[in-house]
Amino acid sequence: MKNIQTIVVDSKEQGAEKICGLVREELEAGRLHVLGLATGSTMEPVYEKLRASDLDFTNVTAFNLDEYVGIPATHENSYAYYMNHHLFSEKPFKETHIENGMAEDLDAECVRYETLLKENPLDIQFLGIGENGHIAFNEPGTSPDSVTHVVELTESTIAVNSQYFKEGETMPVTALTMGISSIMQAKKLIVAAFGEKKRAALEKLFAGEVSTEWPVTYLLDHQDVVVITDLKL
Ligand code: GLP
Repeated sequence: MKNIQTIVVDSKEQGAEKICGLVREELEAGRLHVLGLATGSTMEPVYEKLRASDLDFTNVTAFNLDEYVGIPATHENSYAYYMNHHLFSEKPFKETHIENGMAEDLDAECVRYETLLKENPLDIQFLGIGENGHIAFNEPGTSPDSVTHVVELTESTIAVNSQYFKEGETMPVTALTMGISSIMQAKKLIVAAFGEKKRAALEKLFAGEVSTEWPVTYLLDHQDVVVITDLKL
């Protein structure tokens, strides 16, 4: 697929190294001003490498893909907490943005976020993939025209992500997420997918047919996608 460059690595640590290399290239070429970040276990080694690197993000604005509704930034399962913990506490950025899942008016919050994104076009967007093929929290069935919106999570996502919540804690079933169109506007997409659980989603992508049921396949319509994976497909 001419628009998708695939880099096969032996481990997620090696994958993280590659991603840092791509970021370095863009940063040093003066092409990285706005960086879209993702969360999840896939991204942890990436942030570990970025933290340990000499890369300087003080002129870079960051936007995160998504956030749970109803848990504050101090909650250890919020994506705001994740980002502070894994990256921002050690790597200062010019500005960082994430949807406010505690906003009283969630629709207004989505409009605010999408407006900010339009004012700060993404140079690079990191993406992980959900086992059901979601990107950010764009679940199967999401329209390609979607912008930042409120989403009810699917049973599959709740089952996968609930492992990160402590026993007795209730996992939010609602989230705010950049839409497919918000993501597709990024100049470059860097997709990381490690481990067998991501095989089905990557197979759908490489099958080359866009399907609403597998949101990851929307990436087929983007001009500059790099997929980093340890899967041999
Ligand atoms: C969550 C996030 C996604 C992320 C996905 C994969 O659902 N909203 O943005 O890509 O999980 O997570 P993991 O990397 O833990 O497999």
